[in-house]
Amino acid sequence: MLPTIDWQGDVIVMVDQRKLPGQEIYVRSRTAQEVARAIRTMVIRGAPAIGVAAAMGIALGMRRSTAKGTRQFAVEFQKICDMMAATRPTAVNLFWAIDRMKGVFADAAQSGASTEEIADRLAREARRIHDEDVANCRAMGGVGAAVVPDGARVLTHCNAGALATAGYGSALGVVRAAVEQGKRVAVVADETRPFLQGARLTAWELIRDGINTTVITESMAGPLMRAGDIDLVVVGADRIAANGDTANKIGTYTVAVLAHEHKIPFYVAAPLSTIDLSTASGDDIPIEERDQREITHIGSARLTPEGAKIRNPAFDVTPHRYITGIITEKGIFTAPYTESLKRAFETAVA
Ligand code: MRU
Repeated sequence: MLPTIDWQGDVIVMVDQRKLPGQEIYVRSRTAQEVARAIRTMVIRGAPAIGVAAAMGIALGMRRSTAKGTRQFAVEFQKICDMMAATRPTAVNLFWAIDRMKGVFADAAQSGASTEEIADRLAREARRIHDEDVANCRAMGGVGAAVVPDGARVLTHCNAGALATAGYGSALGVVRAAVEQGKRVAVVADETRPFLQGARLTAWELIRDGINTTVITESMAGPLMRAGDIDLVVVGADRIAANGDTANKIGTYTVAVLAHEHKIPFYVAAPLSTIDLSTASGDDIPIEERDQREITHIGSARLTPEGAKIRNPAFDVTPHRYITGIITEKGIFTAPYTESLKRAFETAVA
């Protein structure tokens, strides 16, 4: 399986997603600060992977703590959690993972555990979050493969693959599971300007798996749909609001509108950790605005003239009315989402 992130001894190792596919370089983070920087600078990206990295970074930071006594230890813990929470605002998996770590800390502290014991429990929780994510992706794949017909040409946007999760992928997990079932599947990957997650990362990991992959620019999706060359769209998500509105990589909304126009099913594949019932609708999802340089430059080469104004919102919101179904590890949920997504958590707890 692809090595997205791993905890080895006293370092967290991540494949540098800024460098793929040209170079396969591994970044070794020794402190919580280094892990936070890796998230902010997109060494690691993708909602579930960000959550796993934050959990491991918090646990690593507390392992290295030299705090004298639980009170100072708790102050350090809060500071590290705040630092992680400030890295990227849109993917709710980040906040979900931080909350899980906070829950473990609170339980351990309440039971009178020593600082070493609390640090051990945090490390175990971070590994659990990692392993659960892989298991959830595999379950999601099994569920979602049912909507992929044999011979399907599946359009995807950004990278919701092994690299964006602890392994296997959400949208690409659905593709992988369909292929494992013996279906012939061809993937059409939007290149996904400006960070090129589709052209670089989706194509890289699918080709490694021997899956038929065609890269297109975003502007080609509409004409390909019109020509009858796309059967299905499957994308990932960074945050799904209680009413089903879904934030994902900028450009997803356009794909959804196009799919609707051409009567092509549009599915979102995401674990329950991406569903945020405390956010009522897409209007309430914070959208990250990233550095202008991602637009003005490719590498060191400048594309735009000095003086041109730049916008760089990294995500958009697809209204729930364009979404055929939300594929999760607990099943596929359909409209009305306000009811079905609430039910998803009730069955998850049972
Ligand atoms: O800015 P990124 O690369 O972190 O954005 C990633 C996406 O938008 C993915 O589609 C989403 O996180 C789902 S990953 C399983």
